[in-house]
Amino acid sequence: MSLLIKNIKALAGIHPIDKLILKGSELNNLPTIENAFLLTVGDKIKSFGKMEEISAANIPNTPNEIDAKGKFVFPSFCDSHTHLVFAETRESEFVDKISGLSYEQIAAKGGGILNSAKKLSITSEEELVESALNRLQEVQSQGTGAIEIKSGYGLSIEAELKMLRVIRKLKTLSPLTIKSTFLGAHAVPFEYKNNRNEYIRIIIEEMMPRIADEGLADYCDVFCENGFYSPEETDKILQAGWKHNLKPKIHANQLAISGGVQAGVRNNAISVDHLENIGDKEIYILKKSNTIATMLPTAAFFLRLPYPPARRMIEENLSIALASDFNPGSSPSGRMSFVISLACIQMKMTPEEAINASTLNGAAAMELSNDFGSIAIGKRANLIITNEISSIANIPYFFGRDCINRVIVNGE
Ligand code: NIG
Ligand code: FE
Repeated sequence: MSLLIKNIKALAGIHPIDKLILKGSELNNLPTIENAFLLTVGDKIKSFGKMEEISAANIPNTPNEIDAKGKFVFPSFCDSHTHLVFAETRESEFVDKISGLSYEQIAAKGGGILNSAKKLSITSEEELVESALNRLQEVQSQGTGAIEIKSGYGLSIEAELKMLRVIRKLKTLSPLTIKSTFLGAHAVPFEYKNNRNEYIRIIIEEMMPRIADEGLADYCDVFCENGFYSPEETDKILQAGWKHNLKPKIHANQLAISGGVQAGVRNNAISVDHLENIGDKEIYILKKSNTIATMLPTAAFFLRLPYPPARRMIEENLSIALASDFNPGSSPSGRMSFVISLACIQMKMTPEEAINASTLNGAAAMELSNDFGSIAIGKRANLIITNEISSIANIPYFFGRDCINRVIVNGE
């Protein structure tokens, strides 16, 4: 199947094929062709260029055609951090939060992650697949084309494996490209409150080998945070993960300067995610590493946490990515256009920086940027066609609205 998109007002996000990640000031460059066409064949981008050059392009006989007059086309969002598989929403905690309880206080009284784990343990694999698939379809319609999904609401061997099998099933049911992350160390289950070392032993000696045997995860995550897992415990878990080829991608510095960035970097994490609390030391350490700094502004928004200092991080030449953190406790939304709005409004990122951080750098945070996240010949035809808008800045400007006319996934 081939698809010809013609008369595109502007085709944006055209990076050289070998550009796999953007750092610092590079993020502000969103290369664009005005009055463009783009041709896909099968699930790949076959060619693109200015409308004047279309006759020189080798267009197949009867492609499907879309007239994109007045519209922008850019790569689909690559959402590199979600907890999209869960059993139930947690709006009662939302109300508790409005009444003044903090995220930590809710967690300490058995709410939060442990509450989600309780509900997940009594929910069947089929039910979890069904609800997660609905959420995946929702984020697909909002422009997400590749996504990472974590376990972490299981917290027992059976339930963690159940979650990871649900993610595996989703890979076969959804056209989206999905990466899977094992997050057994999301919280310490209530039964192990006074014996946390035993739970960590179970993660390392019982869960990881099973997960590796069944090929159920690409990455290993730890919620490295005061009240959850210490940096030393994080080291232990990540080192064990490496032995099973589960590369680290971790939660760090959401609630405090907790040593999470250091733990991630010294274990060669692909990314350290959250970073609401970050100081000079952490920025310096990230600067010297290949670890991507992923920010999740909708979680900061929902929990009323400070936003990460994105400007400073860009000035220090870090590789930054943006993701949704879609989950029932701190970000019950996977809408990437709102993530981008918050990045611009609250973190003073430019629209170009925010779009690059949610596309090419999001793909890099899932090790997918050789095939996703930019417009280049041979890359996956995952595209967003906007409504008729006047500039790319309309995407963050119309906050809460998607500005999306059509979403193309795998050329369809
Ligand atoms: O990224 N911080 C840890 N994990 C999630 C929240 C999980 C939950 O509250 O259910 C997060 O914010
Ligand atoms: Fe998270």
